[in-house]
Amino acid sequence: MGYKTKVWIDFSATSVLYCVNPNTYGFGFSNYVNAEQKFFLIKNLKTFGENGRYLEGRLNYEISCFFETLKPGTAIPIRYLFTHTVLNSVWGIVMGYTFKQGDPQMEILCDLAERVTAIEGMVESVGMFNPWLSNLMPDFTGVTSWIQAYRGLCDFVEGKANDRKQTRVKGQPRDITDAYIDRVEDTKDPASTFFPAKKFFPHSMAAVLVGALDTTSTALEWIIFYLAKYQDVQRKLQQEILEVASKTGQPALSDRPNLPYTEAVIHEVLRITGLVPMALPHYTSVDAEVSGYFIPKDTLLIQNTWGIQHDPEVWDEPEEFRPERFLDENRKFRKNENLLIFGTGKRSCLGESIARDQLSLFVARMFQRFSVQYSGKPPSEHGKHGVVIHAEPFSAIFTEI
Ligand code: HEM
Repeated sequence: MGYKTKVWIDFSATSVLYCVNPNTYGFGFSNYVNAEQKFFLIKNLKTFGENGRYLEGRLNYEISCFFETLKPGTAIPIRYLFTHTVLNSVWGIVMGYTFKQGDPQMEILCDLAERVTAIEGMVESVGMFNPWLSNLMPDFTGVTSWIQAYRGLCDFVEGKANDRKQTRVKGQPRDITDAYIDRVEDTKDPASTFFPAKKFFPHSMAAVLVGALDTTSTALEWIIFYLAKYQDVQRKLQQEILEVASKTGQPALSDRPNLPYTEAVIHEVLRITGLVPMALPHYTSVDAEVSGYFIPKDTLLIQNTWGIQHDPEVWDEPEEFRPERFLDENRKFRKNENLLIFGTGKRSCLGESIARDQLSLFVARMFQRFSVQYSGKPPSEHGKHGVVIHAEPFSAIFTEI
């Protein structure tokens, strides 16, 4: 039996609500029963992302710009290397425009989003998600600085939306922000989360940006980490990409089914790192029984994603980096329902398909063109704990193949 079937409970509320959002504004960090904000975002990420076409076009453009600035043959620090590319592909859907390389506004945005996910240390992570502890010791648990960063991010997003309002035409949305403002203006029901006085907008957009930014760019950093470490895996991956796209053709998202080893490598990196090691904490919204344990309504649950993805009962030699575990006997990609990297149930990640597209396209294009190796001593595999696990700072050398 897989973990998904073992742990299915209706846990919809999130605990950070208590420290940042006592009025249940927004949705990513809050308690919601009515998922209208989430439905709106999922629908509009698709609409303004043109069902993936916008993302592919934008990512291809950004990846080409990234290649232009990359200096092959030199030691390149990997931390933050992919932030700009990842941010622009989502910001364009949310706000209808993108940032130029080096734009100070982009630096501010990345810094704020990064500070929201960077909770130093396991103790702080657990403490912060624990309402009584975080209320008692807001500085120690990191809640004070978290709230500052979160409010800063909301103000930033609201400021940019106000700028966009100057050129907006009602009923002709150009992006999610316009569509959101239209919806707020049309909402007369005070019970709706779109009711103007509720002011959900900055919180919902902050959730999308925080959710999108640190996760995908950190996953790419870990991919470099593991491919530099396992050169044989890197060679196999390159061979597959070159067979499908040749050296001159451009890999496309439609090639994904023909790149099973590439998919397997990405999944194995997500498994072994346990990128979001405790997902987001949630309260049970009903009484539940799991594996014989009674869990009353309103119990705070923290999912041990890292533990699940390293459970030797489920994964053969879980500490080994072995992409083949995601391939079947015909070398086709094989999903594993125990990989819970995007969460599960009502509160699972709404950006999963965007993230998968970003990772696949980036990896295919990067390793079609470059090989990568460490510059200097390989860093530790343990990484730095937070809401997202980051690799220890390291540098790598890209070589044109
Ligand atoms: C490799 C990339 C990503 C990973 C590993 C990841 C992982 C996760 C996880 C574990 C959760 C919490 C699930 C739970 O508590 O059960 C989550 C929630 C969320 N993610 Fe992602 N995510 C990624 C990319 C993205 C992207 C690209 C977006 C936006 C476009 C996004 C937006 C969100 C939002 C808004 C939530 C909160 C959903 C809710 O509260 O209902 N994520 N993500």
